[in-house]
Amino acid sequence: MAAPIENTFVREVETNTGQFLKIHQLEVGDVGCVVWDAALVLSKYIETPDFKNGELLQGKKILELGAGTGCVGIMAAHVGGDAIITDLPDFVPLIQMNIGENRALLKGSARAQPLTWGQDTVADYYHYIFLADCIYYDESIDPLVKTLVDHCGEDTKVFCCYEERITGNKPQLQRKFFQLISEHFDTEEIPLEHQDSHFRTLGLKSNTEATLVSI
Ligand SMILES: C[S@@+](CC[C@H](N)C(=O)[O-])C[C@H]1O[C@@H](n2cnc3c(N)ncnc32)[C@H](O)[C@@H]1O
Repeated sequence: MAAPIENTFVREVETNTGQFLKIHQLEVGDVGCVVWDAALVLSKYIETPDFKNGELLQGKKILELGAGTGCVGIMAAHVGGDAIITDLPDFVPLIQMNIGENRALLKGSARAQPLTWGQDTVADYYHYIFLADCIYYDESIDPLVKTLVDHCGEDTKVFCCYEERITGNKPQLQRKFFQLISEHFDTEEIPLEHQDSHFRTLGLKSNTEATLVSI
């Protein structure tokens, strides 16, 4: 049995219903242990008219990749989606904790599952795949694209929100990601005016929608 998680601090995310999702973050840990801005932008985008204020996700199968705390998948389940929320095995207990914490606020369902990019598959048909701030690691760009391709059906929609970082090798990683993605998907940038008016940031090139054309 995994050790209990201690020393968390909570990030509250207000939803359109006026309820608050409570997302535990770890005081100490790897980058996935806190809610990143890209996750907030994407979570709140789910509640916009582009998703009929979340209604569009009701009963839909959703996969979140590199979920960290699970914020995006939990929001998707809050509005009625059935979400499989994934990350490296070490993050599964934190995601489970956050699903448990918010269970009473979920209209749909949420389940945590380990999924290492490029290695694992969680076989199912997904209507939506969400990823926030995952264009981050040099060694995992190719595996991430493989995982996206492996999990996309003909009509799967992918929403990717990422922080447009300008330091180090990050611009190069972003170019590489979109170059590889363009071999499989059409991408379209979501206009800022479609995003949540409070949770959109000019610094975030957010919510790239990718539709699978052919593999
Ligand atoms: C910058 S964090 C973003 C976390 C969360 N999506 C958010 O925006 O708050 C990147 C996440 O990708 C996960 N990750 C990194 N490499 C991975 C891999 N090879 N397979 C699966 N997840 C991975 C990390 O564990 C981490 O949770």
